[in-house]
Amino acid sequence: MRSKITWSACGLLAFVCTALQLEAQRGARGGAVQGAPTVGFPAQQRPPGDAAMIARGKTLYEIHCRLCHGADLRGGEQGGSNLLRSAITLNDQSGELLQPVIREGRKNPGLPSMPANDLSTEDIRAIAEYIHSVLAMGQRQGGPPPGPPVELNVLVGDVSAGRLYFEAKCMSCHSATGDLRGIGSRFANPIQLQNTWVAGGAGGGRGGGATPVTATVTLRSGQKFEGRVIRSDEFIIALALEDGTSRSFRRDGDVPKVEIHNPREGHLKLLPAYTDKDIHDVTAYLVTLK
Ligand code: HEC
Ligand code: HEC
Repeated sequence: MRSKITWSACGLLAFVCTALQLEAQRGARGGAVQGAPTVGFPAQQRPPGDAAMIARGKTLYEIHCRLCHGADLRGGEQGGSNLLRSAITLNDQSGELLQPVIREGRKNPGLPSMPANDLSTEDIRAIAEYIHSVLAMGQRQGGPPPGPPVELNVLVGDVSAGRLYFEAKCMSCHSATGDLRGIGSRFANPIQLQNTWVAGGAGGGRGGGATPVTATVTLRSGQKFEGRVIRSDEFIIALALEDGTSRSFRRDGDVPKVEIHNPREGHLKLLPAYTDKDIHDVTAYLVTLK
């Protein structure tokens, strides 16, 4: 078992679990939810999932998926796709279609990719239940679930374990008395701090904005262009160049050569390695850096 669930966090979530289940039950009866479509999508005709499993899946989602797929499942800064509109999540029953994607990841050279994550079948089922519960609450396909966003209490970790973890895994790049000095007092609440450190500062980095992703494009002639990535997909890469102009390049396989420099690469590499205990411990430790 790689990801042990923090049941104390779920205890605090009890009211949320109940609310989720009630919502899901209302959704399952059909037509009773305000604003729900009269013709349900398959995801809205499912029987309600187990509330405890949904809560557990939500915690796992927050840790392993949220950074890229967003708090509301509609995609995030690291290029994760919208899971409310994905054929995979819409057709999945209990994790069987999600499992190969999560275990194998997705690699697209020069494009945002998804690291493979060796989560257990049980964990993947819980994540699937959570995703289905959100789909079931959707007011319309692709819309966000109703109601205020659910906030987790993340301050349940062990400060000294967090310090040890920090010394082992983070100190090659950071220092508690240097760049991360005072990090604990920079955020309104621990969940913001947690989301920031897990993401490596995305959305709230130094000077209010995270360091941008840049790329070097080398043409067949050897000519090089370097700049901030405006857009990057299989067919085109567009850069904002230093001289203020922008330039796009048509891509055909490996031509031109594209090297993406993501300052948060180190963070993305660590992502599949965290257990939720590691995450809670590190957050508890960072909160003490006032
Ligand atoms: C580091 C970023 C990252 C993380 C973390 C991540 N994903 Fe992804 N995910 C992506 C990207 C990027 C794609 C799109 C890749 C592509 O188009 O081939 C993707 C694609 C997917 C897809 C396929 C969508 C489709 O319709 O093709 C699913 C399902 C998915 N992710 C689920 C998850 C789940 C569940 C988790 C957490 C266990 C997770 N992802 C974690 C970045 C991420
Ligand atoms: C390989 C180097 C590397 C490792 C290892 C690493 N980080 Fe980072 N981290 C970075 C970089 C680079 C940034 C800045 C990204 C930017 O400027 O946008 C960053 C940003 C951050 C930020 C945001 C700082 C801010 O000022 O907003 C926090 C917090 C953070 N990291 C915590 C951690 C923790 C905790 C660990 C260990 C679990 C860790 N990092 C491991 C390189 C690393």
